[in-house]
Amino acid sequence: MISKLVRPVSVYIVGAGPGDPELLTVKAQRLLSEADVVLYADSLIPPQVLEMTRPDAEIIHTADKTLEQILPLMIERVRSQKLVVRLHSGDPSLYGAIHEQMQALATAQIPFEIVPGISAFQLAAARLQVELTVPELVQTIILTRISGRTHVPATEELASLAAHQASLCLYLSAHHVEKAQQQLMQHYPADLPIAICYRLGWPDEQIWLVPLEQMAACSQQHQLTRTTLFLISPALAAEATAQRSRLYNPDHNHLFRPSSASPAS
Ligand SMILES: C[S@@+](CC[C@H](N)C(=O)[O-])C[C@H]1O[C@@H](n2cnc3c(N)ncnc32)[C@H](O)[C@@H]1O
Repeated sequence: MISKLVRPVSVYIVGAGPGDPELLTVKAQRLLSEADVVLYADSLIPPQVLEMTRPDAEIIHTADKTLEQILPLMIERVRSQKLVVRLHSGDPSLYGAIHEQMQALATAQIPFEIVPGISAFQLAAARLQVELTVPELVQTIILTRISGRTHVPATEELASLAAHQASLCLYLSAHHVEKAQQQLMQHYPADLPIAICYRLGWPDEQIWLVPLEQMAACSQQHQLTRTTLFLISPALAAEATAQRSRLYNPDHNHLFRPSSASPAS
């Protein structure tokens, strides 16, 4: 275990964030500017993210490749002492298909490090200027997807998750938006405002705020089939504005603001 930690890293699995290059982490920027080789999913990441790569860096598009084709490319570059960055959209831990990639790298005894990124749901909340955990209203965030070609376990069916009426961030579901709406409406009010977020952080970003009952119609009208995140949350409803957190409330004291602290005049 210790020897694994001290081996030098050869491959960085890097979160690219949702698309805006300014939302890359400092570490991701540094690695991109130093990399000899960058492998990236061109269907999920806009080319602007690659602007800081070296002019002589080798850029390998992966949208048209299988893992079986990608891995030998990575391994060959690593064995040639190249610094390899494998870019994934958003945060690699979410729907990034890195699980099997990490297993294969481990089998090939290639040390790697993961650099987190900002996920699409975080930029959605920022754009909508909403807190997804409003006190007394909603304190849980669910990140999920609907069953499609990738099967979701029965215990995680969308309708059963909707029963929590939490802030629900729905990835990878634009193709099945009618089914998603129907399952969500089993528990969320039909008139709850929901956000349909298309290509957040890309130059052609668009966001629609519509009642839940219009989620499918709006998505279909705008032909949204890819790179779309749905945000369903009580925090988007008007009543959310009346709620207030205890943390900065003058009636609430805590270790760093004992009761003697008087309100600013
Ligand atoms: C393969 S998953 C990757 C998710 C990514 N790892 C993340 O953390 O955002 C692709 C799905 O994520 C969502 N997504 C990723 N980037 C997005 C963006 N810029 N705008 C809207 N949705 C996005 C969409 O639901 C899309 O279908």
